[in-house]
Amino acid sequence: MGRFCVDNGAGMAELLSIILAAGEGTRMRSAMPKVLHPIGGLPMVGHAVRAALAAGSTSIAVVIGPGHEAVQAEVARLAPAARVFLQSERLGTGHAVRMAREAFANASGNVLVIYGDTPLVSADTIRSIGTRLDGGADIVVVGFEPDDPTGYGRLLTQGDRLLAIREQKDATEAERTIGLVNSGIMGFRGATLAAVIDKIGNKNAKGEYYLTDAVELANADKRRVEYTVAPAEEVIGVDDRRKLAQAEAQFQDLRRDDFMRAGVTLKDPQTIHFSYDTEIGRDVTIWPNVVFGPGVKIADGVEIRSFCDLEDVVIGEGATIGPFARVRGGAELGAKVHLGNFVEVKKSRIGAGTKAGHLSYLGDAVIGSKTNIGAGTITCNYDGVNKDTTTIGNDVFVGSNTSLVAPVMLGDGAYTASGSVITEDVPADAVAFGRARQVNKPGYAPKLREKALAKKAAKQSVKGKS
Ligand code: UD1
Ligand code: MG
Repeated sequence: MGRFCVDNGAGMAELLSIILAAGEGTRMRSAMPKVLHPIGGLPMVGHAVRAALAAGSTSIAVVIGPGHEAVQAEVARLAPAARVFLQSERLGTGHAVRMAREAFANASGNVLVIYGDTPLVSADTIRSIGTRLDGGADIVVVGFEPDDPTGYGRLLTQGDRLLAIREQKDATEAERTIGLVNSGIMGFRGATLAAVIDKIGNKNAKGEYYLTDAVELANADKRRVEYTVAPAEEVIGVDDRRKLAQAEAQFQDLRRDDFMRAGVTLKDPQTIHFSYDTEIGRDVTIWPNVVFGPGVKIADGVEIRSFCDLEDVVIGEGATIGPFARVRGGAELGAKVHLGNFVEVKKSRIGAGTKAGHLSYLGDAVIGSKTNIGAGTITCNYDGVNKDTTTIGNDVFVGSNTSLVAPVMLGDGAYTASGSVITEDVPADAVAFGRARQVNKPGYAPKLREKALAKKAAKQSVKGKS
């Protein structure tokens, strides 16, 4: 397989990726920049950055729009070394690439252009561009055949050559019948890009500088322009919320396939939703209707029952979770932990073999191993200002309906009586009663009933008189 990069002679293969992310995304009808809309829990621009990194980029340039600091922050989070260029006026994709001129002016290697609204492109597709460039192409455009080509630029081809890309608004009736369209992913030899970028004009239906015009200009220069064809599912461009939903569905299907191939049982795949970074071990079983937010890592042999919502949590081997559990905020669950129905765990560390079977909230807690958390146990971790820690040892028995008012500590082997409000530390092996003592009054029940009946009779006689 051909390598993507051209060797610059010093033994170091150079590849610059330019990510175009400055568009306003008008068709999204959103207050948020289009490229920040997430797919699989990651903003689209993040997917583009990950694709650029996976392609082996030696440098990354991102073109962003004015006021899009949040886009810049997302890029910096994933690729701190990426250079960011501002496009203050959205004059088109060709103009956007010009904004990053400093990054490619002297590029001796290859340049990859990725549109920030094309989040699902695979490493294979990007590698196929490299193969063509290494084989002598000056520009390679990734095409695809969508169910409906409306809105995309059409590829005008002859054999393996690409003659031009015609944008929807500029295409003739005949050109609009072409089903092969531009994905927006393109590879250039650095020198070719530098040579054609300034020749791009804006005499077209939108009055924009189209990067896609580089194809015709390069052909006029007798340069070699080729195309490859990618599977439609991975190069869908997201311009509106319908396409966003399509891309999300496609992303989810890919993840489901990956996990099933890797030894995960999904009882009803279509109802299970993953994030871009979900990690799951072998022989894990996931029942219907489970959502994985970002940051979930699951070890082997875990069972996740229906209707669980997990985010930012590491789950140890053989744990059983749910149904109806919510776990989040940097939680760590040890091996064989059991969380049952209606249990919420936030930012808590729970040791091996500990069980919380029913109706509990465990927030900011550090809990040892083989401890039993009774039904209805609540950590009162927040006083309206501060979040405090509840520390519970090993082999503790927390009685049902215990309120643990943090900060508070329960020693190893301690026991709390059901219904207790625990405000003071409980030493190891102590039993804490934090509730009023029960008083029984022998023979009092019949008297109580007599009183109640008398009260009812009095009410009825008042009614009769009125
Ligand atoms: C573009 C292509 C079209 C292709 C389609 C694939 C052009 C002229 N057309 O159309 O051939 O079929 O993508 O999805 O390139 N952007 C900027 N600055 C701008 C304009 C756009 O950074 O001034 C960015 C956007 O943020 C976006 C990307 O470039 O990530 C593509 O722009 P968009 O407006 O979505 O182009 P399309 O109409 O989809
Ligand atoms: Mg687009």
